[in-house]
Amino acid sequence: MKKLFVEETVNKIGKEVELYGWVDSKRDHKKIIFIDLRDRSGIVQIVGDEKFKDLTSEDVVWIRGLVKKRPENLVNPKIKTGKIEIEAKEVKILNKTKPLPLPVNTDGYEINEEVRLKYRYLDLRRPRLYKNLALRSKYIDLIRQFFLKKDFLEIETPILSETTPEGARDFIVPSRLQPGNFYALPQSPQQYKQLLMIAGVERYFQIARCFRDEDPRADRAYGEFTQLDLEMSFVEREDVMKITEDMIVEVYEKLQIPLQKKPFPVFSYKEAIVKFGADKFDLRTEEEKKTNIQAFAWVVDFPFFEKTGEGGWTFTHNPFSAPLPQYMKDLLQKKNIANLLTSQYDLVCNGYEVGGGSIRNHTPEGLRAVFEIMGLSRDEIELKFGHMLEALSYGAPPHGGIAPGIDRLLTCIAGEPSLREVIPYPMTSGGRTSVMNAPSPASDKQLKELGIKIAK
Ligand code: AMO
Repeated sequence: MKKLFVEETVNKIGKEVELYGWVDSKRDHKKIIFIDLRDRSGIVQIVGDEKFKDLTSEDVVWIRGLVKKRPENLVNPKIKTGKIEIEAKEVKILNKTKPLPLPVNTDGYEINEEVRLKYRYLDLRRPRLYKNLALRSKYIDLIRQFFLKKDFLEIETPILSETTPEGARDFIVPSRLQPGNFYALPQSPQQYKQLLMIAGVERYFQIARCFRDEDPRADRAYGEFTQLDLEMSFVEREDVMKITEDMIVEVYEKLQIPLQKKPFPVFSYKEAIVKFGADKFDLRTEEEKKTNIQAFAWVVDFPFFEKTGEGGWTFTHNPFSAPLPQYMKDLLQKKNIANLLTSQYDLVCNGYEVGGGSIRNHTPEGLRAVFEIMGLSRDEIELKFGHMLEALSYGAPPHGGIAPGIDRLLTCIAGEPSLREVIPYPMTSGGRTSVMNAPSPASDKQLKELGIKIAK
């Protein structure tokens, strides 16, 4: 097993070490040949002779060598191992490479995205992307630690499921056992997490994959993305906002990422529109934008409903939300609809909407009123949401939650221009998977089993 990362060689002056990694670059001065050896921790200069003759960039090698202090005038302050170099004693090529289809020692922004994603496993060799992967891992670890400490249970919810409305199109999966019927991939765990509250779990969280078929943008992944999904029983709006904010403060402190204002400023929807012209906004000054300061804020008091093109009503955020308590009577009587405010809270950071949640309607009457205002018939309500209405009738506790978007939060921290830079295997803007060739045709046998005919 490999025992030493390249960067750790700085502490091994005068010692012989064994290193494994990739040839990052080679400088051939005939009698003396230098290579930079790269692994996930960084690079180190290795000095060799004709032993290095056959090496090319990106070959995988094992090297035994002596760690030496560099003379003062040859120190390279740009790399962490710049004060040392390694004198090679022995080298083995573990795997020779073909020429790569794309360079991996640049930052990669200049390369066509289709190419980067087709060869994502090479693209990820770039130190910038490795750093993003490592940040993601650490970030999720710290989030977990926070919620486990606060007595939350981490619970997985199904992926093959029934549609749950979050405002996007569903991905659907045909059923073999019940031909002509389909599962939907969840746009969020919304209904399952509420059912966990009815089950008496009281505090739930999950690093949850969500699936939405909506047009991609710089801040919106096509296909799938990840939420920190959480739900709590016996809470009010301010409680969920507070625990979310406490989590962010703790995690960002541990990562040494500066926060602009604590506590996070709170704006009503109306104030935000007047002040910023939108319900997501960037509170950073031009100076602050050059640093990696994170400027969080809350937006509350959104209208519950908005008019549809056809003159009916639809929800602005989440149909499962309760209105603010003072509007409950109006909701149940289905009056004053245009002025009903929802308990929804949105979390904003550096110009992105990075999270949203609400206190839920925990009575069947409240939820039914929302669907009736939206113009769903009795039968439609029963068919789509009968299970939720029934569940809410068996002693559902008051509850609420939130779902911060992990990809957007990481994009802000890493200062990246797009979500795709912090997602390990994102889809292309045309909806193709990284590296693998999906979507792809199903075989005739599969289609037959599923009872599906493709229209030409
Ligand atoms: P919502 O739909 O607002 O709420 O989603 C919550 C957060 O998820 C992130 N997000 C996305 N990130 C990347 N790509 C996407 N396509 C994408 N869509 C959403 C955003 C967003 O703020 N069930 C509710 C939450 C709740 O009420 O508890 C929900 O999913 O950061």
